[in-house]
Amino acid sequence: MSDRESGTYDVVGIGFGPSNLSLAVALEEHRANGTENQISSLFLERQASFGWHRNMLLPSATMQISFLKDLATFRNPTSSFSFIAYLHAVGRLPQFVNNQDFFPTRQEFHQYLEWAQARVAERVAYGSEVRSIRLPSDAEPERADHLRVEVVDATGRGVRTIEARNVVISTGLVPSMPEGVERDERVWHSSEFLERFRRTDPRELCRVAVAGAGQSAAEIARFLYDELPHAEVYAVVPSYGYSIADDSPFANQIFDPSAVDDYYFGTEQTRDAFWRYHSNTNYSVVDDDVIRGLYRRWYDDEVRGVRRLEFLNLTRVADVKRLGAETRVILHKGPDAEVRELAVDALVCATGYDAMEPTGLLGDLDRFCLRGEAGRYRVERDYRIATAPELRCGIYLQGGTEHTHGLTSSLLSNLAMRSGEILDSIVARRVPRDAGSPVLAKAGGELG
Ligand code: FDA
Ligand code: NAP
Repeated sequence: MSDRESGTYDVVGIGFGPSNLSLAVALEEHRANGTENQISSLFLERQASFGWHRNMLLPSATMQISFLKDLATFRNPTSSFSFIAYLHAVGRLPQFVNNQDFFPTRQEFHQYLEWAQARVAERVAYGSEVRSIRLPSDAEPERADHLRVEVVDATGRGVRTIEARNVVISTGLVPSMPEGVERDERVWHSSEFLERFRRTDPRELCRVAVAGAGQSAAEIARFLYDELPHAEVYAVVPSYGYSIADDSPFANQIFDPSAVDDYYFGTEQTRDAFWRYHSNTNYSVVDDDVIRGLYRRWYDDEVRGVRRLEFLNLTRVADVKRLGAETRVILHKGPDAEVRELAVDALVCATGYDAMEPTGLLGDLDRFCLRGEAGRYRVERDYRIATAPELRCGIYLQGGTEHTHGLTSSLLSNLAMRSGEILDSIVARRVPRDAGSPVLAKAGGELG
């Protein structure tokens, strides 16, 4: 264990994607303000270096939020960690403004995130996968003033334990495959796409299929069509055709910071309305320009009498069979699930993600975490899991709170505000070093 990992941290962040990077920025600004209440922190990330959905950094893919929804601006418009500060630092601010586009490419935003993480890197341990969080074995819960975070080190230092007064779990979305379909050398999930694609000889990819009607599927279908001019590309689309992502101004308000309160303190009916009316802002939908670009490619081929981009609509992947080197995709079409088999050289399942689920990490600690009627965690407004009173340490979630805090839970839109709220909560609940019991923040409503 290095020196900086000894002692007990006020905060240990688990996972270091944009969510916990934003928290590290909030902590850095708190420190720089010279407040008395300094908060010690360490962030643990299993990847060897910073990476934000690297396998989907496709050449022309753009962000799905405004550049102003960066790591800090909504919380602190004068932050030196803003996207504008980044542009200024790299000497590209005038050119960015001339481009008149609110939506940078994902590659440019990735460079921004890398620039920001480099400024807080001394508080991050990369190559560190958290396996479990538990109470110290020698302490009763009510006496424990810290949790133990067990980390497996990718650099061969074995297992080590880190002590934390609070943990902030932010391990991200979990890739979801069609039921019963396993990944292998030629059956990929979109989350591993570029790595798999680069490892495969393109000459071996003459018939490829992409399953799904979301942004990932459309971007991958476009990429494969452009990168493999010799190949036939099959898009397996459950709907009649790709649907547009609604990012019009009124609908976009559901991603405003104030919408979190409307959702959290709203009735069951209010929360239901968010999902019923506005799922099409994010799930199974595609940006307008990507849809039009794909249609354009297909139409131009029609004019030329070429057929190499085929849309199999009202169709789902039901199974995959492996016959020697051949991959056979079993498709179900329409209401009667008419069966069709498609032989391909590779199938990409852009079939989405499940929400973050921390139960596995929490292990035995889970019995102190309160759950609502639907069996999901009760989460306070400050993103802390509601726990039995004897557990004094805080377990915060960045992600996995769709049921309590709404649609922004898995997105970037509200990162800056959410990180600030978590920091405020940790500061407010902090046990003064010489005092006996923790200062408990006022609990907000608790939802099931
Ligand atoms: P994220 O998944 O980014 O990070 C989690 C981190 O935890 C990872 O680095 C992972 O390695 C690490 N980790 C996991 N388990 C661990 C363990 N046990 N120990 C240690 N580390 C562990 N949203 C949006 O608002 N606008 C957008 O433009 C996009 N674009 C976008 C593109 C693509 C391709 C996808 C798949 C998703 C998006 N999203 C998005 C949604 C996406 O959830 C969001 O951009 C962020 O990735 C959320 O950041 P997090 O830090 O919460 O998770
Ligand atoms: P998604 O929106 O959840 O879409 C998954 C798609 O897979 C749905 O259309 C789903 O259809 C379909 N599907 C599921 N099972 C299937 C099966 N067996 N056969 C065929 N299709 C099946 O997932 P996503 O596209 O990966 O997007 C996830 C998140 O990442 C979103 O927030 C998105 O905005 C974001 N993203 C952003 C960018 C970017 O910023 N440029 C790029 C990619 C993704 P049903 O709904 O009918 O099940």
